Amino acid sequence: MSKNFDVVVIGGGPGGYIAAIRAAQLGLSVAAIDSWQNAKGGSALGGTCTNVGCIPSKALLQSSEHFEMAGHGFAEHGIGVEGLKLDLAQMQKRKDKVVQQNNDGITYLYKKNKITSFLGLAAFVGKAEGGYEVKVTRAGAPDESIVGKHIIVATGSNPRALPGAPFDENLILSNTGALAIGAVPKKLCLVGAGVIGLEMGSVWRRLGSEVTVLEALPAFLGAVDEQVAKEARKAFDKQGLSITLGVKITKVTSGKNEVTVEYDDADGKAQKGTFDRLIVSIGRVPNTDGLNVVAVGLSIDERGFVVVDGDCKTNLENVWAIGDVVRGPMLAHKAEEEGVAVAERIVGQKPHVDFNTVPWVIYTHPEIAWVGQTEQALKASGREYKAGSFPFMANGRARALGDTTGLVKVIADAKTDEILGVHMVGPNVSELIAEAVVAMEFKASAEDIARICHAHPSLSEATKEAALAVDKRTLNF
Ligand code: FAD
Ligand code: NAI
Repeated sequence: MSKNFDVVVIGGGPGGYIAAIRAAQLGLSVAAIDSWQNAKGGSALGGTCTNVGCIPSKALLQSSEHFEMAGHGFAEHGIGVEGLKLDLAQMQKRKDKVVQQNNDGITYLYKKNKITSFLGLAAFVGKAEGGYEVKVTRAGAPDESIVGKHIIVATGSNPRALPGAPFDENLILSNTGALAIGAVPKKLCLVGAGVIGLEMGSVWRRLGSEVTVLEALPAFLGAVDEQVAKEARKAFDKQGLSITLGVKITKVTSGKNEVTVEYDDADGKAQKGTFDRLIVSIGRVPNTDGLNVVAVGLSIDERGFVVVDGDCKTNLENVWAIGDVVRGPMLAHKAEEEGVAVAERIVGQKPHVDFNTVPWVIYTHPEIAWVGQTEQALKASGREYKAGSFPFMANGRARALGDTTGLVKVIADAKTDEILGVHMVGPNVSELIAEAVVAMEFKASAEDIARICHAHPSLSEATKEAALAVDKRTLNF
């Protein structure tokens, strides 16, 4: 016999679990299905983000940053460290504990919100009286059948492999293997200088690997504001992250303990390198595996994304899709916003998700963060703008921290002064970007930020000064 719910959420990542919680808060009966299992076979809620994405990567970034500081940063502060050593097993254990705390947190939230949780793979069976029937299967457990009046598909994404080089998670690693390496590789290659490439490259370089990053595009971080990307590149070069642009990978061959990568460089010359490990971070593909979309005729586009409109409605009545499995940036907070909005639409509310104010953060050192439009995009669109920037070198707090790399840049409309984009590279900009997001959501002008009192000494003063720079009147530079 099947169980009936107002809402069935498929996927327990940041899109799905937040949608489930919001739907329950709104008084709907909710079933939430997720297939992620921990090493003991139990459920591990939180999806890619919690298990092999945002959370474990930030745990390792933090630990490796401490290691680098102890080895190379403390001396300047007059702190000597003797006998420094790396206990990678402990570092990984701590990361696993952080992941588990997050898994447990979501399990608790499901209970608190009276969400019925199912562990297993969900597949559409077909239309049923009162909605859609979904079957949940798991090895060693009986199949279960659920009917949802509304279905929210939040099945996320999977890493894209290089043609002819499938992931073995031993020598050729996706994000999953990259976060679980047990011994620091002497020579590490990353294909793809995107967000994962730079974050994972930073972790392993700090821990002692010689890191080579091979990127297909001729420009470094093409989606990032050019001024910021240039500043970040300078910092990464100085750190010893070897980044080669414009390459074409031609062959990957796994040996017993090493992997050989052959590629044509930007001049078309054949090159070859042998590495202890290869991390492939060339983007992710939407995941609809096992969903049996044909049973209900759910539309999927040629790239594998579930087709949705601006409100996350699919081609089927009362079937919604959110997060990485639909168009838009593959970010946890974007998935969450869509999850909340869909739950609210189900009960007839009229929420709005503004894609123009979705912030991006790359958690390298220096950090990179932005919201809104880049200068090059504005130039290309012909929109008239004014831009102002302020270097952390001239910020008192940054000097006291001993972390003066980078800048804040504010771009505003030439006539109205409305902020169109804010771009940052430097210390703690992952936190500073929130002010810019709020400002843009409230349609603030650069002058609004310039007139707001910011605490002294704080890194946030760089944002105020960059806003002043739009009007060419910085006070401290
Ligand atoms: P997912 O998190 O992928 O969750 C989908 C869930 O659905 C999974 O648990 C999956 O097992 C389950 N599932 C799939 N199919 C079925 C099925 N048929 N039945 C039942 N369950 C199913 N984003 C950020 O914003 N900040 C970051 O710092 C960040 N860091 C990242 C670092 C790495 C290394 C990676 C790989 C990604 C990172 N991301 C980050 C991206 C972020 O993880 C994703 O954007 C986010 O997880 C998408 O959420 P989602 O809910 O759409 O899907
Ligand atoms: P990405 O899209 O950020 O970067 C992929 C890079 O690989 C691009 O620069 C691309 O040009 C390059 N590339 C593609 N094919 C290639 C090839 N054959 N050879 C060489 N280079 C090639 O994707 P990435 O790093 O895999 O991450 C996936 C997504 O996960 C990100 O786009 C982001 O949405 C999310 N993420 C977010 C993080 C954050 O918010 N801090 C951290 C990590 C991931």
